[in-house]
Amino acid sequence: MEIEGALEGAPSIVDFKPSTAAIDVQKRLTTSMREMDRVLGGGLTPGSVVLVAGGPGMGKSTLLLEYASALATQGDVYYVSGEESVPQVLSRVKRLGIERDKLFLSSTVSVDDVLTSIKREPTALVFDSIQTVHTSGMNALTGSVTQMRECTVKLVEYAKSSSASVFMIGHITKGGNIAGPMVLEHMVDTVLYLEGESRSGRRILRAIKNRFGPTDEIAVYEMRENGMIEISDPSRIFADTESEEAGNAISIVVEGSRSLMINVQALTTPNHKSSPIRIARGFENARLLMLTALVSNYLGVSLENRDVYLNVLGGLKISDPGMDLAVIAALYSATKNICFPSKTAFVGEVGLDGRVRAVQQTRMRVAEAKRMGMKRVIASYQSKEDGVMGVRTVREAIAKALSGDG
Ligand SMILES: Nc1ncnc2c1ncn2[C@@H]1O[C@H](COP(=O)(O)OP(=O)(O)O)[C@@H](O)[C@H]1O
Ligand SMILES: [Mg+2]
Repeated sequence: MEIEGALEGAPSIVDFKPSTAAIDVQKRLTTSMREMDRVLGGGLTPGSVVLVAGGPGMGKSTLLLEYASALATQGDVYYVSGEESVPQVLSRVKRLGIERDKLFLSSTVSVDDVLTSIKREPTALVFDSIQTVHTSGMNALTGSVTQMRECTVKLVEYAKSSSASVFMIGHITKGGNIAGPMVLEHMVDTVLYLEGESRSGRRILRAIKNRFGPTDEIAVYEMRENGMIEISDPSRIFADTESEEAGNAISIVVEGSRSLMINVQALTTPNHKSSPIRIARGFENARLLMLTALVSNYLGVSLENRDVYLNVLGGLKISDPGMDLAVIAALYSATKNICFPSKTAFVGEVGLDGRVRAVQQTRMRVAEAKRMGMKRVIASYQSKEDGVMGVRTVREAIAKALSGDG
């Protein structure tokens, strides 16, 4: 007996391409916003989908409106604002001084309407925000995970079948509700996170996922009335090399493709009444506990009855283990009330055995230290770079730093 239609379910031939096939490699789009280009991995990859997440008032709308305008020199860009009315967006456009012929605004909330209304293939679409748009044929509330996912599916399909890039803004509540737009993380190519202290104008844009570039790449901005100003040389604002106070230490960390000079500060105060406090800002608390124990154990400085506060200047959050040695130096300096000679930088990961380990990209870090006028870099003896004072242990590191030669 023949089964009709059996052939329909039969496997079809897949058109595998030889890896030598000639293709037109799509060029990355670069703009006048060079820091944004860098965080995206060296320009925008056409057809990519980017989620930009951040808390309220961080400047997501401002940044993306400016970027949309920068992209609109190369093709049509549609900015869809479900959050604000067109007059509101227009007043921001005027304030930022970014009027462009090819930048189009709408406050529609339907993804389907947007996709059917577009005639020429655009360079980019921006949805501000993914929580305020919906797609038809679903019985789910706007802003729900189901709606956000379904909208994202449609937008990803659109981006992959065209060469238009799609940007989606995602709100994160003040409490850091990562469950919100972050559920979309695996569906998109790139996730950028905009953070900062709302009181200060300083903002940090960080790539936390990027299929087209390194993660942990950061861009630094100053938020002003006329927009987000790029800080192209952040070492100059994060490190206070003039401070002569105890409790300061300088380190060179690596963020993405770039090294950055930073300042870590410690304060330790007696506490004989309750169990001592350990608070870190911009640094992992568990790691501070470990380094505090190391200071007590290997440097003969008891922190048992002292509260310990640690702060990375400028609102940066550092996870680079190369900062360990600087944290230890700051704790030592604060507790003993001793200053290190100026122009000293500390680079190294510290193990539980008190040994200083070499970290990645020492060459780049030392180069940055020199560029910033540092005279000596205390680092592992395994680093053979010129300008490094090599040490084996934290005890040796402190002794050599205090001696100040080299
Ligand atoms: N007229 C204005 N002049 C100067 N700054 C403004 C003005 N309006 C808003 N801002 C600043 O812009 C910030 C909001 O930026 P916005 O891009 O809307 O943030 P988000 O979209 O992340 O919520 C506010 O924190 C405020 O400081
Ligand atoms: Mg906004």
